[in-house]
Amino acid sequence: MAHDTHDKTPANLPKATYEVHAPRLPRIPFLAVSVGLITVVGSWIPLVLFARARQIPSSEPRVSFVQDMGTQPRYNAQQSSEVFEDGRAARLPIPGTVARGHLDEDDHYHHGFERVKGPDGKMVNKFFDTFPEQVKVTPALVKRGQDRFNIYCSVCHGLDGQGHGQVNEMAVEDKEAKWVQVASLPSDAVRVRPVGHIYNTINVGIRNMSGYGAQVPVADRWAIVAYVRSLQYGQNAPEDAVPAENRNTSQAAAK
Ligand code: HEC
Repeated sequence: MAHDTHDKTPANLPKATYEVHAPRLPRIPFLAVSVGLITVVGSWIPLVLFARARQIPSSEPRVSFVQDMGTQPRYNAQQSSEVFEDGRAARLPIPGTVARGHLDEDDHYHHGFERVKGPDGKMVNKFFDTFPEQVKVTPALVKRGQDRFNIYCSVCHGLDGQGHGQVNEMAVEDKEAKWVQVASLPSDAVRVRPVGHIYNTINVGIRNMSGYGAQVPVADRWAIVAYVRSLQYGQNAPEDAVPAENRNTSQAAAK
C-alpha cells in the first residue's frame, strides 16, 4: 500500500535513493498564522462591545444607523415647558373633544336624564322613569346586576342594600371620620327615585358618594339599576305578591 512503503519497495523496483516521507502540505509561515489568529480574535472585539452596549445602561443616546425617528426631542411626564402659557408640557384635551365611539348622544341610555325647559323657562334635568329601549330587563340582566352590585356597591351599601356594608360600619365606628351614613336603597326616599336617577347616581355620584362611571360600563350600570329595583321591590313587596301557598313558610321558618 502506498502510505507505508518505507523499506517495503517491491522487489522489481530499484531501492529508493532518498528517504521516503509521508506526504505533507507545506507548513504555513509563522507570520501568516499569527496575523490570521490576531485578525480572527480581533474581529470578536466589536461583537463583545455590541453585546456589552446592549446590557449596560448609558446616558448617551444610542447609536442608530437608521434613524427612523428613534431619537427625537420630547417632553417627559410632568415636565414643564416655556412654550405654553400655563407652563405645563402636558396638554389637556381641547374642551368639547369627543373620543372616537364616545359621542354618547342617547340621553336616555348614556345619561339617564334629558335637559328640558322648566315651568319658569329655565333648563332643568328630567330623569327618565323607564329603562331605555336598548336595555331588556330579564332575569339574566338582574343576575348580572347582582354580580356587579356585590362587587362595586355592597362594600358600602351592604349585600341587602340597607347601608350597612363593611366600609360604612368601620367608618361609623371611627368618631374622628366625618362619615355620612350610607343611604338605604330600599328606603322610601330612594324607592321613589326614577330609574334614570339611580343610573345617574351610579354614573356620576351624588352628594357624598362618588361616581362609578369610570369603572362600570353603561350596560352594567343599567344592570345594577335593575338589581337595585329588585332589592327595593323584594324588601317592600305587598303580601299578595307571594303565592298563597308560600306565604307563611318564611314566617314559620323564622320562628
Ligand atoms: C364608598 C361607599 C359607597 C359605595 C361603594 C357606593 N355608595 Fe352609594 N352611597 C354612599 C353614600 C355615603 C350615600 C349617601 C350620600 C349622601 O347622602 O351624601 C350613597 C347614596 C346612594 C344612593 C341614594 C342617592 C339618592 O337618591 O339620594 C344610591 C341610589 C346609591 N348610593 C347607589 C349606589 C350604587 C348602585 C353603588 C354601586 C355602583 C353605590 N351606591 C356605591 C356610599 C357608597
